[in-house]
Amino acid sequence: MPLNFAHRGSLTEAPENTLPAFHKAIEHGARAIELDIQLSKDNHLVVAHDHKFARFNKKFDGLINDYTLEEIRQIDVGSAFGNEYAGTTLPTLDEVLDICPPELFLNIEIKNIPVIYDGIERRLLNTLNAHNRLENVIISSFDHVALKKVQDMHPGIDLGMLFYYRMLEPWIYAANSGLNIRSLHPNHVYVDQTFVQESKQQGYEVYPFTVNDTKRYDELLQYGVDGVFSNEPVIFKK
Ligand code: G3P
Ligand code: MG
Repeated sequence: MPLNFAHRGSLTEAPENTLPAFHKAIEHGARAIELDIQLSKDNHLVVAHDHKFARFNKKFDGLINDYTLEEIRQIDVGSAFGNEYAGTTLPTLDEVLDICPPELFLNIEIKNIPVIYDGIERRLLNTLNAHNRLENVIISSFDHVALKKVQDMHPGIDLGMLFYYRMLEPWIYAANSGLNIRSLHPNHVYVDQTFVQESKQQGYEVYPFTVNDTKRYDELLQYGVDGVFSNEPVIFKK
């Protein structure tokens, strides 16, 4: 059975990366969820994809990192999605972990581009440790230096290597990286049979992002992927 990830929670039903979006994904029986983390000005782990508020609240034009957690708790990111979510704010990683049952598999993506968050790796590991969540989780990032920092601090943790653009033999790059990579997370647009076969030969699981239609999902399953990230988890049931 594939391990499919509800991308940023159930983002078509509630504002992405918020508690309502994760509640919806859990209610619908998601086996796994993906979420993105960044740091507030006062170094709290905040769950958010964009490094700015602009897409969710045009009144705030700064970076997430320009605001303290107390300020972030006052910034509505729900109204842009729908009136019923007015007043919804970005959650902390702590708050999301509080609502995740232990059997729910997690992928936590460290967002380190374009802002490099100094110390985010240590804070992430401390938070996971406090929630007894160092297992049943993959830590991923497009920033592979961040993955190295995570590994150096906690060698046993599962790492996922994200690739946005097409690369020459990323499975060889991963194998030569010195990192204990569990899985490759490529942009799905260039994933073909060779990609999956070569990655598997190197011992990696493959989870392409972001797959939103049934036809492409079926194709990727035929190639042998281990699961996908999707904004439309309903495709998993078809
Ligand atoms: O982790 C998979 C996917 O979330 C990576 O891209 O930009 O949606 O965080 P993005
Ligand atoms: Mg992500």
